[in-house]
Amino acid sequence: MSDTPAASVMDAIVSLCKRRGFIYPASEIYGGIRGFWDYGPLGVLLKNNIRDDWWRNMVECPPIGPDGQPVEIVGLDSAIIQHPKVWHASGHVDSFNDPMVDDRETKGRYRADHVKVLVPRDGQGNSFAFVEDREAAEKKIKRDARRNPTDYDEVILTTLPPEAYARVVGPDTRTPGTLTEPRAFSLMLDTYPGPIRDEDNKTYLRPETAQGIFLQFKNVVDTTRVKVPFGIAQVGKSFRNEVTPRNFIFRSREFEQMELEFFCPPDDALMWYEFWRAQRMAWWQSLGIDPSHLCYRDHDADELAFYSKATVDIEYKYPFTAPGFGELEGIAHRGDYDLSQHAKHSGQKLDYFDQDLQLRLKEQGTSAEEIKTRSRYVPNVIEPSSGLTRGVLVLLCEAYRRDESRPSGEYLAFKPSLAPVKVGIFPLVNKEGMPEIASKLYMDLRQKYTCEFDAKQSIGKRYARMDEIGTPYCVTIDGDTLKDQTVTVRDRDSATQQRINIDQVGSYLNERLSG
Ligand code: GAP
Repeated sequence: MSDTPAASVMDAIVSLCKRRGFIYPASEIYGGIRGFWDYGPLGVLLKNNIRDDWWRNMVECPPIGPDGQPVEIVGLDSAIIQHPKVWHASGHVDSFNDPMVDDRETKGRYRADHVKVLVPRDGQGNSFAFVEDREAAEKKIKRDARRNPTDYDEVILTTLPPEAYARVVGPDTRTPGTLTEPRAFSLMLDTYPGPIRDEDNKTYLRPETAQGIFLQFKNVVDTTRVKVPFGIAQVGKSFRNEVTPRNFIFRSREFEQMELEFFCPPDDALMWYEFWRAQRMAWWQSLGIDPSHLCYRDHDADELAFYSKATVDIEYKYPFTAPGFGELEGIAHRGDYDLSQHAKHSGQKLDYFDQDLQLRLKEQGTSAEEIKTRSRYVPNVIEPSSGLTRGVLVLLCEAYRRDESRPSGEYLAFKPSLAPVKVGIFPLVNKEGMPEIASKLYMDLRQKYTCEFDAKQSIGKRYARMDEIGTPYCVTIDGDTLKDQTVTVRDRDSATQQRINIDQVGSYLNERLSG
């Protein structure tokens, strides 16, 4: 990121994403549909690279646990649509709501907890609401109330008593009292599988991938060799009917999550919570994110769900939150809430008999009665839950650089192993034997890396395009290649070129693109 104002950095990122094929508005030819986005040819490569890194780190090569052994994690791909009772048991049907306010005059609709209000400190006159544009509210204070904005305090709309609404001027109006009181708005998107469209057949698109994991806990324990502690990981689409989708792909109505449900003995849950808290921060940093752009935000006691002993968010300094931070991932200690709820609502036993613990307790001389009660339990869950599509946004924001000295004026400095295209291969001119050599190199390298062969336009324009899409290396075959078998390799970040033998290109890239 650069020092340019946040709005213009975000505008530049959104425009680059569209122009170069990372992210397009969904249904664009019909005017778009709010809260939905399509990932274009480069966006899908970037998203898959993040997903694959997470999957490798979680399922194929999970971290080393506190006992020096790799932790055990298996994968799952559960259905997006589940039995309606699932969403009653999980609590989503009753309480997955956001407070919403409407503006009776403008028909605007806002998430009540996102609306801020400037309230006169002396209690005299109107208050002025805004969502992001505080300056607009301050202008109204100067122009309409003829007062000084410094005489006002900023509060969240939902903290005001109902009688105060009569004096609130909404974000997009100059008339006081047009905002309704907040009411609960369900975030669940419903659907009716099968031919009959009635309440009995109504179910929901999943708002998180997590519940599919809890539903298969018993099958995974019974059919595989896992033992508690172990985790089940899943990546997939989730859907939320967000009141105000905004900030590009930050909050959308269809998005992807990467979730791990880690099942552990109740006595060890806090230890595993600390473990995952540290691991997850280390993973985001391993993607090349500057540690000073990430922070932890521990949830206050009054923010915690009643069953949670601790929850922390990993936050990122987005251009639209800077100098503040916004959520990227949550790590929650969920106790035994989810498995107990599904056991209660389904009538199935979802507890676990811990044979290893039974043996350990026996060796320690614990009484038979205590062994019996302690070795059968409902596992506790530690849940690191992150947004894959939000991760795409973070990597785009982190990689975005302005550089007026380059023809492109901007470039994306992705960590090389995550870049959508790893190598550009260019014959300097499309004749004199150069395309043939370049094409042979391309045919070799494409076996291992996502490569682009490009013989069109000036070399400067080809480098500029590669800078804009974040390709870390470009290899150019020129007149000298024909004489001495050397090529130039251009490094995206330094924009410098180096001559190496064409036989060394493979090892040059191997060194820089692995890990
Ligand atoms: N199972 C727990 C759970 O879903 P959450 O905090 O609601 O927790 C986890 O969501 C992550 O999913 C968030 O940290 C965020 O990265 C991502 N996420 C949630 N809602 C989103 C939305 N509307 N658009 C994009 N990403 C979203």
